[in-house]
Amino acid sequence: MTGIDRPRRLRRTPALRRLVAETTLEPRHLVLPMFVADGLTEAREISSMPGVHQHSLDSLRKAAAEAVEAGVGGLMLFGVPLAADKDAVGSRASDPDGILNRGLRALAAEVGDATVIMADTCLDEFTDHGHCGVVAPDGGVDNDATVERYVEMALAQAEAGADLLGTSGMMDGQVGAIRDGLDAAGHLDTGILAYAAKYASAFYGPFREAVASSLQGDRRTYQQDPANRRESLRELELDLAEGADIVMVKPAMSYLDILRDVADRSTVPVAAYQISGEYAMITAAAERGWIDRRGSILESLTGIRRAGADIVLTYWATEASHWLR
Ligand code: PBG
Repeated sequence: MTGIDRPRRLRRTPALRRLVAETTLEPRHLVLPMFVADGLTEAREISSMPGVHQHSLDSLRKAAAEAVEAGVGGLMLFGVPLAADKDAVGSRASDPDGILNRGLRALAAEVGDATVIMADTCLDEFTDHGHCGVVAPDGGVDNDATVERYVEMALAQAEAGADLLGTSGMMDGQVGAIRDGLDAAGHLDTGILAYAAKYASAFYGPFREAVASSLQGDRRTYQQDPANRRESLRELELDLAEGADIVMVKPAMSYLDILRDVADRSTVPVAAYQISGEYAMITAAAERGWIDRRGSILESLTGIRRAGADIVLTYWATEASHWLR
């Protein structure tokens, strides 16, 4: 071995490592997913996601202000209606007085333009059967009827002050229909963060508790098969053609190859969602003392950035932002 073959030379000191680091992780890259639940007077911790809460409108405002103070890039809001308010078509999702739209108005009032306010544009929290759309008589999820409901939901969210709409339902044509609907109503500045590649994942488990999901069965007729890679490129192309402003890959950690494929081809910014099960795994292992919590969190976020994400949705957004400042 000669002096030429010694890559360790650049790893010797923190200063050398900092000089040659390829991937950066900054608070502005991180988006905090938040849950606002109807009927709560104070925040309630989600048992399968220690440290993550269903918020009341008041505690939502407080947590949002903290996140913005920490420098996060944005907030993604999910709504949890009262069980009694769920119905077959998720009426409360498009009702201006539904909990998600009230939460969006509260966020807009609290943080305004200091961060980017995003809304989950999907029906699953609001339907009594728990599916992301309208169920047809044959038991399947009716794509086109669902997309019509998404457009109604999108208009209510734009009115409520969302900057970006997170189309997470995996219905065909949802991005184009929402874009048309927004434009027709004069919401030219409301953008779409399209979940382009979203897989039917077992790692969504804790989220189902977070939103008190009513789902029986699974979402395999609309979310993608984890076995497939090429299909994500088709989903990407369609979402770009339909007017997506940002595209997302979800989940993140088991799909880093997909993230890289999408990042290599996308003409718009790329996001990735480090989902509830990913949060729960690291949290549980760290609680047992099996892994170092802070190191694992930062490494996982760096890995997602390195794979190609410009933006990372993570339940650690506020905490990690404090570390990174
Ligand atoms: C559905 C939705 C899900 C998540 C975000 N939006 C769950 C699902 O598709 O079943 C999961 C997020 C997470 O697990 O953190 N609208």
